[in-house]
Amino acid sequence: MMHVLTMPLLETIEIHQILHDAQAFLNGDRWMPNRETFVANLFFEPSTRTKFSFEVAEKKLGLQVLNFEAQTSSVTKGETLYDTVKTLEAIGTNIVVIRHQQDHYFDDLVGRISIPIINGGDGCGHHPTQSLLDLLTIKQEFGTFEGLKVVIVGDIRHSRVARSNAEVLHRLGASVWFSGPRSWIDDSIPYGNFIDIDDAVEMADVMMMLRIQHERHAVKMVTTQSDYHHQYGLTIEREQRMKKDSIIMHPAPINRDVEIASELVECERSRIFKQMTNGVAVRMAVLKRAIE
Ligand code: NCD
Repeated sequence: MMHVLTMPLLETIEIHQILHDAQAFLNGDRWMPNRETFVANLFFEPSTRTKFSFEVAEKKLGLQVLNFEAQTSSVTKGETLYDTVKTLEAIGTNIVVIRHQQDHYFDDLVGRISIPIINGGDGCGHHPTQSLLDLLTIKQEFGTFEGLKVVIVGDIRHSRVARSNAEVLHRLGASVWFSGPRSWIDDSIPYGNFIDIDDAVEMADVMMMLRIQHERHAVKMVTTQSDYHHQYGLTIEREQRMKKDSIIMHPAPINRDVEIASELVECERSRIFKQMTNGVAVRMAVLKRAIE
């Protein structure tokens, strides 16, 4: 079954194949399934980029798109995720894309439903398609992952993006570093070492900035936005100390002047909007893999 659930579950060779197919789509390759294919997008958490880039990818591949709104579905009547997905399968859906607030929501589905599941983000767990689009962006820039220094900055503990990227970047030969408040550098992510932001900017090839995941905090953060920016954020002064060819990434949504100075969002080093463009191509490649 061609699920995409977590990065560790994707073999390195499959990752390279997806990146290759995504780049081919960006270069103008076309591909469509030879039979009618229905895909349902189930988003139980807010999303702009992931949801719409999946939808654009699906439409570019000529798929029939079913959009699901949790608030207007039978989930409000107490239906479980399993019963919802089983229903979609029964009515002829061929693929499901799911974003859900529960870590590893897919454990309840795998082996019990017979259509591919593509994970659009599970709680603090994983976000494999974000990771794939980040890999594509890095590959376009540097041609390789081997020996690159990638610093992931911010709310590491609550970030599924950090968790997915740390594992795969380490696997592909990059060295991964974490920066930000110490209490958010999570031992459950084993692939990075701590680095102070002021040292990080001078060393990094990639500065990967993260939004503070307030919605996942049990205790409200006390630091002000401005204090956070000056202590841990990518300020204009810090950007000026970055190496000549190093780049800035961010999965977005961005909280301007918190994790990154507003002026840097579209600066020359920023690949933030390129990441989004790459997201459509990566999702086309992942959908193609699920259909073939
Ligand atoms: C991220 C997410 O939802 O995990 N956004 C995204 O998919 N591009 C990051 C975030 O919400 O901060």
